[in-house]
Amino acid sequence: MDNQSRQLLFDQVKKWILEAGGHIRDAIDEPLYIDTKSNPNDLVTQMDRNTEEYFAKKIRGKYPNHLILSEEGFGDEVESLDGTIWIIDPIDGTMNFVHQKRNFAISIGIYHDGIGEIAFIYNVMDDVLYSAQKGQGAFKNDKRLLSLENKVSLEESIVVLNSFWACENQVINEKKIQDLVKTVRGTRSFGSAALELAFVAEGIVDGYLTMKLAPWDIAAGAILVNEVGGITTKANGDPLNLLTNNTILSGNKQIHETISSQFVELKK
Ligand code: IPD
Ligand code: CA
Ligand code: CA
Ligand code: CA
Repeated sequence: MDNQSRQLLFDQVKKWILEAGGHIRDAIDEPLYIDTKSNPNDLVTQMDRNTEEYFAKKIRGKYPNHLILSEEGFGDEVESLDGTIWIIDPIDGTMNFVHQKRNFAISIGIYHDGIGEIAFIYNVMDDVLYSAQKGQGAFKNDKRLLSLENKVSLEESIVVLNSFWACENQVINEKKIQDLVKTVRGTRSFGSAALELAFVAEGIVDGYLTMKLAPWDIAAGAILVNEVGGITTKANGDPLNLLTNNTILSGNKQIHETISSQFVELKK
């Protein structure tokens, strides 16, 4: 994608994402219709669906050749990364949205032939917009984010971790995760993968490790982290596959290497 096309697309997405976020803020105190999906804790609301439908209609109206890969069913059957693909999570952190009415985000990553071109993560209630364009750095609102320091030792770092993975589970050796918890300065869990990746890019946490995320959870965040010199891969260091679920390890390069080599032992 050339710089001019990317900038035009960026400006359009920015307008739409701010507008969609405004609709959510305006309706935040209205009654919610909450359904569950794969299990009783897997929530979805009419706001998740309405927001995704809003983007799908806008995108199909203005960019009929683009494809949409998204969570709530308004997207396309995307089977390859060829062409321009919008990877959208209309509300990342639905549980926070329902229970807290804050700490959730709209996440949009745009990829062209598999290359991350544009990223937006919008913390709706705080009105904080993280954004990036390929090769042009990352921003928090209008402020450019600094390149990540690689000097931070694991002992002085904060790592984002869902405590579930330190309990007995079938995916990762939980004893090693318990060692990680004991080694780092602190752990955090914010309940929105998109925001957690944005916080890695912002440098307010040093790493993020989790075992199962969908493409729409990570598409924008991976671009943001990349633009500040960090790295996002599967937990064992293998490249991401944006067409399937992935284990995820993101952070500055040093923390990433230390965690993947010393603390990640997948069971299968
Ligand atoms: C979820 C959030 C959460 C993560 C879950 C995701 P959703 O996305 O990102 O932090 O731990 O795995 O499914 O369902 O709220 O969009
Ligand atoms: Ca969901
Ligand atoms: Ca999500
Ligand atoms: Ca979602």
